[in-house]
Amino acid sequence: MILSVCVGSSCHLKGSYDVIETFKRLIAERGLADKIELRACFCLNRCSDGVAVKADGNYILGVNGANAEQKFDDEILPLLG
Ligand code: FES
Repeated sequence: MILSVCVGSSCHLKGSYDVIETFKRLIAERGLADKIELRACFCLNRCSDGVAVKADGNYILGVNGANAEQKFDDEILPLLG
């Protein structure tokens, strides 16, 4: 899976950096490096719902440093199938 975290200006202000760091940690802790490729990307056109994340074709919205682990477990891991 390609996991893209928006680092456009709006999402950046809402905490993209924290989201990326949290995802990095979770991917490492759970041994998912061969399954999830983490990338930074530019504006996903969901600025009002940022931080915007895209997991393959699926948008995960409203992510921030505080809820990133929850979103990872509830909305991203299930997409791995
Ligand atoms: S800046 Fe992230 S969706 Fe636009």
